[in-house]
Amino acid sequence: MQSIVFATGNANKVQEANIALGEAFQIISLKDIGCEEELPEDHPTLEGNALQKARYVYEHYNTPCFSEDTGLEVEALAGAPGVFSARFAGPGRDSEANMSLLLEKLQGNDNRRARFRTVIALILDDGTEHLFEGIVEGRIAGQKSGGQGFGYDPVFIPEGHNRSFAEMSMREKNEISHRARAIAKLKAFLLELAASPERP
Ligand code: IMP
Repeated sequence: MQSIVFATGNANKVQEANIALGEAFQIISLKDIGCEEELPEDHPTLEGNALQKARYVYEHYNTPCFSEDTGLEVEALAGAPGVFSARFAGPGRDSEANMSLLLEKLQGNDNRRARFRTVIALILDDGTEHLFEGIVEGRIAGQKSGGQGFGYDPVFIPEGHNRSFAEMSMREKNEISHRARAIAKLKAFLLELAASPERP
């Protein structure tokens, strides 16, 4: 079994990644490597933030790792809140307030199209960097519903469904989610790398 550090402090993301990576990989948390500080993420893009977090862990803890950054991109808001999704309603990173503000801004608007986009940054032991993207299209519901998941899950209905992510089990969400899609690409890459004859 291969093990890899996931540079995130979000327990929900670790759980989702564990399911998506499956039995071939074991995730090592930041706590396991003694990293308890908040990782820097002050870039204006998901790609920049994902790389910044992974580089921080690679440089300070001398370990290969991956990190991810996710944004909710709403068509009627010209792609906002996007990279600013966590602090949409203020610095408190309050998911309830974020969702309420989003519903308020979209009130009366027929265009509910939105997507979640995840970017994963992987840094290997030789310092090489690789990016993987996962997207799920969907729409913003008229109100919050469901008690599973986290963040904006109660207001996001993925395309082809009539329930929000928060009304789905973690396994169901993981079959279609942005994060699971990005992780599937990461997994395929790591498996190919492990099978490569050039690797010791
Ligand atoms: P970050 O990637 O942790 O910075 O997340 C940005 C914002 O998007 C935060 O408000 C998260 O709660 C939210 N978010 C990230 N991933 C998901 C998800 O899978 N579902 C719902 N909200 C999410």
